[in-house]
Order: sequence, then structure tokens, then C-alpha cells
Amino acid sequence: MLYIGVDLGTSAVKLLLMDSDGKIQNIVSKEYPLYFPNPGWSEQRPEDWYDQTMEGIKELLQEADKSKVAGISFGGQMHGLVILDKEDRVIRPAILWNDGRTGKETDYLNEVIGREKLSQYTANIAFAGFTAPKLLWVRKNEPDNFEKIEKIMLPKDYIAYRLTGIHCTDVSDASGMLLFDVKNRRWSQEMCDICGISMSKLPQCFESYEPVGRVRPQIAKELGIPENVIVAAGAGDNAAAAVGTGTVGDNKCNISLGTSGTIFISSKNFRVDSHNALHSFAHADGSYHLMGCMLSAASCNKWWMDEILGTGDYGKEQTAIKNLGRNHVFFLPYLMGERSPHNDPDARGVFLGMTMDTTRTDMTQAVLEGVAFALRDSLEVAKSLGIHLERTKICGGGAKSPLWRKMIANILNLKVDAIESEEGPALGGAMLAAVACGEYASVEEIADKVVKVTETILPEPELAQRYDERYAQFKEIYPACRPVFALLAK
Ligand code: XUL
Repeated sequence: MLYIGVDLGTSAVKLLLMDSDGKIQNIVSKEYPLYFPNPGWSEQRPEDWYDQTMEGIKELLQEADKSKVAGISFGGQMHGLVILDKEDRVIRPAILWNDGRTGKETDYLNEVIGREKLSQYTANIAFAGFTAPKLLWVRKNEPDNFEKIEKIMLPKDYIAYRLTGIHCTDVSDASGMLLFDVKNRRWSQEMCDICGISMSKLPQCFESYEPVGRVRPQIAKELGIPENVIVAAGAGDNAAAAVGTGTVGDNKCNISLGTSGTIFISSKNFRVDSHNALHSFAHADGSYHLMGCMLSAASCNKWWMDEILGTGDYGKEQTAIKNLGRNHVFFLPYLMGERSPHNDPDARGVFLGMTMDTTRTDMTQAVLEGVAFALRDSLEVAKSLGIHLERTKICGGGAKSPLWRKMIANILNLKVDAIESEEGPALGGAMLAAVACGEYASVEEIADKVVKVTETILPEPELAQRYDERYAQFKEIYPACRPVFALLAK
């Protein structure tokens, strides 16, 4: 049998075809535009996601035996607000996970409703990128659009809806809406009341590995696949990536270096970060996880290479870096504000410490190191909760760089297990589809079978020590800049 994994990302949708043994048969990627209508805003058209997903699936299956396709599922960019009217038409472009327009609404939820109540209802506090503050923003700024809302969903759920006709989501993605009672894996009536919506506007919520329905006959015809193909609920991209890297079961870790950067810690039991700096979400394997999320990770390097240095040769720039742990330049990677742990949409990128002998290479190094230091900020929060980690998996575009992997191992002082495929969310999506179709009994079973570690990068004590000293300096920079960020945002 064949399974399709759809990774609905921010810059592109990635489609992956996996066979029953977990072998990847083909991968296709299709881009779509990202709109920044105002500084700090970030939007996409759900119709673009759908069109490119359909085009991508057609290309993916060109050489395949289409009659063998049994299931489709997803890893999707999280938190994005997709709203449909009575006729199931998209009301306005989706407001994405890295959109910072909801500062006021986030403050209202955290300060007026109160962090304690939010945490009690949802296990989380409000962050600018979460879905509930976006609903409040639409209610205040676009009342006509708010009135028209008949269904609210997340990005990947729009694709599932177009494929099946069913309004659905899954527990991991629902967790990032601030409308979901994570502990009990159900919608929160209290949060619906706070946001002024009736619960019937929310989609039916499934476990990630559950089938939600079958593809519509006209979709099956268009794609040339059987009519009984199962669509499984899928997961938010981080939970799907965790499945794709075998980060299931208790106390396993995955780092994703994509447009965003995340550190994902799986947990058999429900738990909340008492500082609420890490998100407490449901996992795609039926359990839970804690997660820190940076809004700009590999995207910082992409920005630095493409926009500033004007080069496409990332490898060449990185080969010039020889002086690990001894760079005098620091970089704060907050190009879209920052989520974990600072929760500050006004934060911005900063280079610090340059002198007349600073080189282009030092600055490239600072960008890569800055992302790793910022990930360590979230790891430090996890440590303060008594979580002890020795190793992590790694995935995402940035994980392809051996140098960046080495920096991560030494800056976070973790053994880094590189795996056969960095296609975390797309592979995880296909694996969830295989479970939904009954090919495997559980997410853990397929993860054990499919995920293979190819290399482990060990921290080097001397280098890790040097990076410890540098991290002690790095963590002083954000608090010093915070008042200036607030001033610049006025
Ligand atoms: C997680 C988050 C990002 C997006 C990226 O909370 O906002 O990782 O899911 O697609």
C-alpha cells in the first residue's frame, strides 16, 4: 500500500509518498506566496494551499501505482486562523502562526482574563501567534468578517475539508488554538465564551492517527486514486515531525530547524510548565508534549544569505567558519518577534559586538549560533522544570547543515541523532495515514519500525564549555534590549 504525507509549510507544501515498509518513494515540493500586508503581519491564501497540494499530489503520483494509494494525512503549520462562511467559502486570508498583530488581544487575554485562568482552561497562556487572539482581532477590526464566520479551522484542516467535505481537526493542532482543554482533549466552553463564538463553529476533533473520512469521489477521479482512500486527521507540523523522527513515548526530544525553530519534548503524562514559557500540547501518538517555539530559525540564515549577502551558496559561506566558540559577534534571531520563552512580538533582530576586524564569516557564524542559543533558552526552561535530556533528534531544512548540527550539539550540550530522512512532518503525516488505515497498530509501532538513526553528533567537552561561557553572555542581551524594542514599537 502507499501513503501520502502532506507537510503544509509556510514557504511550500511538501508531498511525500511512503510504502507499507516506511520507505520513501517520492518527494515533491510546491511553493506559494506569503504576504506581509503590514510590518509583523503574515498571511496566506488557503486556496493557494489547496491548489498547490493538488498539483503536488498529481506530480507525486506520476510514476506510482495509483491503485495502491490507501491513505493521506498531514503535518500542518500550526495556529493559523482559517475562517469559512455558510457556503464554506474562505472569508479572508489566513492569519499565520508568525503574525504579530495581536499584541493588544494577547495582553487582554493574559492580563484581563488572566494567565491563571487561561492555564486552567487550556494548559497554556496567550501568545501573539495563537488562534484565539486572532479571533479577537477579527472581532474588533473586521466585525463584518467576524459575523460571517460559520467554521473555524487550522491550515491543514482546510485541505482535509476540501478532500473529504468534513470539518475536522486533531488534538495536537487544536492545542495551539487556546480554545482547547489540552488535559481532557476537548474544546473549552470557557474559551469559546471569552472569544464570543459558539462551540458549533469549531470542527470535530480527532486523535491524529484516526480516520476522519474518505476522499470525495470527484477528488479521487481528479487524482486517479481509489474512492475509498482514507484521510486521517494528521497533526500540527511539530507533532507530525516528532512522529517522523520517532520522538514518541516518554521524555524524547526533537529539534526542528525550519522557518520556525522548535524543541519538542514528548511526555506520557500531561504536564504544564509552571512559567507557561513552554507550550503544553497534546501529542499525535495519543499522549502529550512540551514545546518551545522560536519564530525565526532557519529563516534567519535564509534571510542573511538571500537578502543580505545575496548568495545561494550556503555551503561555501559555512565552510569558511573555523572558529567555533570564539566568535565575538552575537545575533538575536528575533526577525518576526519572539515566542518562546520571551513572548515578545516587538523583539527584533540584533547584531552586537562587531569591531573593525569583524568579517562576513563572523556574522554568518553569529546568525547560526544565535538560533542555537535561542533554542537553548527553551531548553533551560525545560531543565528548570526538572526535565533531564541527554539526546535529541533533529529535522527540518537547517538540519541538513553538518556545521549547524555540531553547533546545536555543543551549545545545547546534547547528543544529536541525525536520522535517515529530515522530512519530519511529511513523513510523520504519511506514518499517521498508515496507522489510520490499520497497517500498523500504533504510532509507536510504526516509529520503531521506520525511523533509523544514521549518525550521532556528540558534544565535545571543551567546545561545550566555551559555548557555555558564550551563552552566559548571550542571555544578558535580550533583557537589555527589551525596553528599546518596546520603544521602537511605539
Ligand atoms: C509552533 C509554531 C510553528 C509553526 C510552523 O507552535 O508556531 O512551529 O507550526 O509551521
